[in-house]
Amino acid sequence: MLSKIEALLARIEGFNSTNPAEIEDFRVKILGRKGELNDILEDFKKVAPEQKRELGQKINLVKTAATSRINTLKEMAAEAAQAPAAAIGDMTRPGSEDGIGSRHPISLVRREIVDIFSRLGYTVAEGPEMEDDWHVFSALNFPPEHPARDMQDTFFIEKNPDILLRTHTSSIQVRTMEHQKPPIRVICPGRVFRNEAISYRAHCIFHQIEGLYIDEGVSFADLKQSLLYFAKELFGESAKIRMRPSYFPFTEPSAEVDVSCNLCGGKGCNVCKGTGWLEIMGCGMVDPNVLESNGIDSTKYSGFAFGMGVERIAMLKFGVKDLRLYFENDVRFLHQFDSVL
Ligand code: PHE
Repeated sequence: MLSKIEALLARIEGFNSTNPAEIEDFRVKILGRKGELNDILEDFKKVAPEQKRELGQKINLVKTAATSRINTLKEMAAEAAQAPAAAIGDMTRPGSEDGIGSRHPISLVRREIVDIFSRLGYTVAEGPEMEDDWHVFSALNFPPEHPARDMQDTFFIEKNPDILLRTHTSSIQVRTMEHQKPPIRVICPGRVFRNEAISYRAHCIFHQIEGLYIDEGVSFADLKQSLLYFAKELFGESAKIRMRPSYFPFTEPSAEVDVSCNLCGGKGCNVCKGTGWLEIMGCGMVDPNVLESNGIDSTKYSGFAFGMGVERIAMLKFGVKDLRLYFENDVRFLHQFDSVL
């Protein structure tokens, strides 16, 4: 009988499982009413009184060993069952939607502007962001001492004054004139770089869209009419424009273009600083020097050019007060443009 008890104890200690059904089977087989421990207790009744003490202790030992082994295994089984469930979480909870991205407000406005000019027959031209002095300044009639050529405005590459980051996309217009004979009608979107302190209204990187139209008999009236059409398409049918004399080395005459404030309808508000007008771009008739530098006969052809900052237009269109928001890519800002297609 002793050997039977010891064999049972060894089996109990050796038993291992994390399957709750298997553990329960084992419990019934050992500790159940018809289990092995009860068989042993039946035999125990027949044991001689002098052996009872020793055997009784052994049987108690088997009983506690079995109970504790089974309880430990049950706990381990319960933990194992919970671990993957905890990792997955509540399986009945509604799933979280995979947010689809949205277009950046600068891309939205860029596309809208390009669309408007494509309806007027303009095609898109692009060019490199890293440029040489000729395409950014010299071919555009910038005198050598012009302040825009200064280190303060222009980023030069490794102090080589000939290689720089373009400060405007007019360089694309120069490249277009190199390859194309008039009539030329291009719209040039792109990123530009200026060595400016970053603030709510200025950044060292921003986006421009410039346009160039060269043909026989192009006049200032054509320029004005094209820009009025553009302003109405972008800001609504009631938009008006006005032109103020200005100066650019590559255009003569030059003008600054204002559009009637779309927020107050021209009455005057804090966005238009009470004037009823918002400045949106520079423009002018292409200077004959520029045409000649680029191999175009200025006695036969004339043209106009214009250029605007995309961030500025986007600020006016969406009422964004701080230009830096466009570069921070905070999704709380970007999601506000989800619905603008
Ligand atoms: N290139 C000018 C700028 O960067 C904008 C402009 C383009 C003005 C064409 C007139 C004509 O400010």
